[in-house]
Amino acid sequence: MNKKKTIVGTISPEVLSFTVGRDPFLDRALLEADCLGTAAHVTMLSKLPLRPRLFSADERRRVVAELIRIMRVGRRGAFDIGEADQDVHLAVERVLTARLGDLGKRVHTARSRNDQVATDLRLFAKMRLFDIMDEALALIDALTDLAVKHARTPMVGRTHLQPAMPSSVGLWAASHAESLLDDLTLIRAAYDVNDRNPLGSAAGYGVPLPLDRDATTASLGFREPIRNVLYAASARGKCESAILSALAQAMLSLSRLAEDMTLFTMPEFGYFSLPRACSTGSSIMPQKNNPDIYELVRAKAGRVLGCATAASAIVKGLPCGYNRDLQEIKEVFMDGLETARACLNILAFTTPKLKVHPEALARGFTPEVFATDRVLDRVRKGESFRTAYDHVKATLGDTAEMDPAASVQTRPCLIDPGFDAMSERARTVSQFVIGERRRFHAALTKLLGVPYPKLAS
Ligand code: ARG
Repeated sequence: MNKKKTIVGTISPEVLSFTVGRDPFLDRALLEADCLGTAAHVTMLSKLPLRPRLFSADERRRVVAELIRIMRVGRRGAFDIGEADQDVHLAVERVLTARLGDLGKRVHTARSRNDQVATDLRLFAKMRLFDIMDEALALIDALTDLAVKHARTPMVGRTHLQPAMPSSVGLWAASHAESLLDDLTLIRAAYDVNDRNPLGSAAGYGVPLPLDRDATTASLGFREPIRNVLYAASARGKCESAILSALAQAMLSLSRLAEDMTLFTMPEFGYFSLPRACSTGSSIMPQKNNPDIYELVRAKAGRVLGCATAASAIVKGLPCGYNRDLQEIKEVFMDGLETARACLNILAFTTPKLKVHPEALARGFTPEVFATDRVLDRVRKGESFRTAYDHVKATLGDTAEMDPAASVQTRPCLIDPGFDAMSERARTVSQFVIGERRRFHAALTKLLGVPYPKLAS
């Protein structure tokens, strides 16, 4: 039988290729996290009270310097992971060994690829979640600006998509912002679940050495270690699933915004329009000005929901501990994170460029939209609600044209849909991200001895 030699055994090329799957490609995104994890691990090993030491201070320094070099190579897109490497973990070990000889062969002391990849994914997710929270805050900002600016701009409020009551552009825009604030609550909770360190759990059963898991936790800027080493292995997949579920919620908010925008930019509505440069044309119809970004966001919401479903479906029914099934979550996890980020980003970019058309919005106000106002006018004069309702229903045709702007004025819930509370919530999240990112970068800068994320010497 034809066989291929790898660091961890000689395997038939068919089996190697099937089991490795897309890891050599996907793991390029984990290179930086993997190097950081190895730097933390070796640093911790070098300080263990064992004689002889597992790594001397100088050996630690040489390994970390080499890891920094690898990270820089990775940033230039020049770090190769081959099929025989299987994954980023063994590729880094191969390069460390080629450059440092026996010293490189010692970095895998007291760890497994199981705790390594679990750590990598958590570091990777943390970096992506910072960006995602930033993008979500930028979109919330843009929607809130629009809402404040148009707090009094009349817009027909709809239920069942049918004209219902007088409303405002402000209420509409702020409702989308508030939805995203709720999603940020879920994303923050997922961030907290993710912010725990599995490193040191090895294959899920620890090792017969007094590893200092608090030290690697501090080096990598995690909040705390996952103490139960078996749970540290089993938590892989569930953690990704929790993050993807939070992102799926955000995507539900975005798909609603996208659907509203697809409708309200139709010429038949014309409530809003995007500048030409933010829409796309047609190869045959010269007049076309299509809202593709909204359609794609709507579609990508389905895609992220699919990623979340795939992750939880893979975790469901798995036994305790590491199982290779978990590798299969990697791709949908990365896809879900990147897709959600890209959607938040494009909406944060285009929302400030939206044009609002008050005349078109005013055209939507048929007299019937004021029917409930009329009922309440009668109630104010002493009639019971149901009697007034029956009267107006029987005489709908008599409803006179009313002034939409004046009607908006009479509704405090339209003039201020809770702007102060919303900006307070946004500010809390923003400060959280600033503080967490700073803490994270400070930990990594200390670990590497060069400023992170710049990696400048
Ligand atoms: N690429 C693997 C994964 O993502 C790394 C861990 C392999 N561990 C193992 N016991 N085969 O799961």
